[in-house]
Amino acid sequence: MKHVFGMGTWYMGEDAARRPAEVAALRSGLDLGIRLIDTAEMYGEGGAEEVVGEAIAGRRDEVFLVSKVYPHNASRKGAVAACERSLKRLKTDRIDLYLLHWRGNVPFTETVEAFEALRAAGKIRHWGVSNLDAGDMEELWALSKAIHTNQLLYNLARRGIEWGLLPWLRERRIPVMAYSPIEQARLLKNPALVDFAKRHGMTPAQAALAWLLAKDDVIVIPKASNPAHLKENLGALKIKLTAAQLAELDRAFPPPSGPTPLEML
Ligand SMILES: NC(=O)c1ccc[n+]([C@@H]2O[C@H](COP(=O)([O-])OP(=O)(O)OC[C@H]3O[C@@H](n4cnc5c(N)ncnc54)[C@H](OP(=O)(O)O)[C@@H]3O)[C@@H](O)[C@H]2O)c1
Repeated sequence: MKHVFGMGTWYMGEDAARRPAEVAALRSGLDLGIRLIDTAEMYGEGGAEEVVGEAIAGRRDEVFLVSKVYPHNASRKGAVAACERSLKRLKTDRIDLYLLHWRGNVPFTETVEAFEALRAAGKIRHWGVSNLDAGDMEELWALSKAIHTNQLLYNLARRGIEWGLLPWLRERRIPVMAYSPIEQARLLKNPALVDFAKRHGMTPAQAALAWLLAKDDVIVIPKASNPAHLKENLGALKIKLTAAQLAELDRAFPPPSGPTPLEML
């Protein structure tokens, strides 16, 4: 399944009592063949990276590790120091993909310089961004063509990026990592989605994920600390939505009809 289906970790590492279950969930995901884990220095203020470090102990080579730097740490020196701290918590010597979490006040030139220095030192293999709109992307693209992804809020109920940003990224072959792909479970109660899933023999979560996976250049990173959720979500990989099913979802969840400001959670 390579890297199209990953595991999110937001809200992990916040509560010591839940930690063993979180570690176990990530490990069971690796056992099921998932390779990508998405985390950030922000999640649990380092706690989520520690959970990930524990989960991948002894199996680092199986994993494509994504982490993110806070915008206020994304300066030339700050990003290098933040990355070193993340590596310690993750108990590894490299991050596969390191992202700027969102745009802050540090100029892009400094962040790019830091990312390139980290890459040259082998501390990160690739870098990318998150929550950047088309204008931000244009600005960054003028500085560097090494942008590996833009991680964005994208799901059936949040299709705004389809107007300008997604086509822009497609033209430049930059994949999208769709975060909150089931809208933090809120989407699963949507009557239109519940009805669609029932009629087509899948669960609402599987329908929402299969819709994203139907796109060539979209990676999904649902978070599930409940192993039953994880298994259910993985079922989406076996579903190929037909043109008629996709059209039905378009009617229930229409694409944008004009420019839409970038949304984020
Ligand atoms: N770059 C950014 O700014 C940004 C922002 C948001 C998220 N992210 C990343 O994207 C990941 C995913 O987004 P998210 O965590 O916000 O939301 P999400 O993946 O859309 O939803 C996660 C929530 O849904 C529940 N869930 C998962 N599968 C389910 C199922 N089959 N049935 C019922 N409930 C289910 C989970 O519960 P359990 O945990 O109890 O299983 C959890 O509460 C994050 O964890 C994070 O790594 C990035």
